[in-house]
Amino acid sequence: MTIEAVVFDAYGTLYDIQSVASAADRAFPGYGEMITQVWRIKQLEYTWLRSLMRRYEDFSVITRESLAYTLRSLGLKYDAGVFERIMDKHVHLDLYPDARQTLTDLKQYKLAILSNGSSGMLNTLVRNTGLDAILDATISIDSKRIFKPSPEAYSLIKDRLGITPAQVMFVSSNPWDVIGAKSVGLNTIWIERVSPEAMAEACQNSELVLPLTMFKALRTQMDELGLAPDYRVHGLSALAEILSSVPA
Ligand code: 2OP
Repeated sequence: MTIEAVVFDAYGTLYDIQSVASAADRAFPGYGEMITQVWRIKQLEYTWLRSLMRRYEDFSVITRESLAYTLRSLGLKYDAGVFERIMDKHVHLDLYPDARQTLTDLKQYKLAILSNGSSGMLNTLVRNTGLDAILDATISIDSKRIFKPSPEAYSLIKDRLGITPAQVMFVSSNPWDVIGAKSVGLNTIWIERVSPEAMAEACQNSELVLPLTMFKALRTQMDELGLAPDYRVHGLSALAEILSSVPA
């Protein structure tokens, strides 16, 4: 079966979630990196906790609640203006430098995002960064009211694009997301942005484990969940070559 569509995760795969650090640092000098790492860790954790509790709130609510947690946990006082300025970066995230060109090079496929982001925040982000002109679909898990890696969330690819899992190449840098996709039969490519060697070096060279190193240790290394991605690359620009070599 040939690949008909390439479906991307949004946050951390096409969009650099670390790019909120500058806005956070402007609001709280010296705290930018710490805010960024605690925020992302809590944001993801809340998607899984709310899914398990069956108390769905969309990702925009979760993103706000996890930022509130972060600022409170770091003892930072803020007013509504400061809070909104940090939040605003979330709909103006930087694209990874290779993202736009990669999508342009893959235009013979249907191109889509499948993200835990709410429809509102995803559509705004995609429009703000001009990807609306390239993507065929921006799919939020909103309508299923459960987050990836739930199988129901990935089933939206079939519902919305009308193709089977075997016809889809799913691309994510988030290990838990690649494994979730693989678990329901999608073809998968893991963007391994941080190699084990770079990880080991970062740990050896820091006297103190920096928050970013801690984040990388928690969220960028492949999980031990009994499954593995089909392909492993180090950047989006490697996708075209892999896709051209996938057997029909
Ligand atoms: C996504 O875009 C949260 O990165 C995750 O679905």
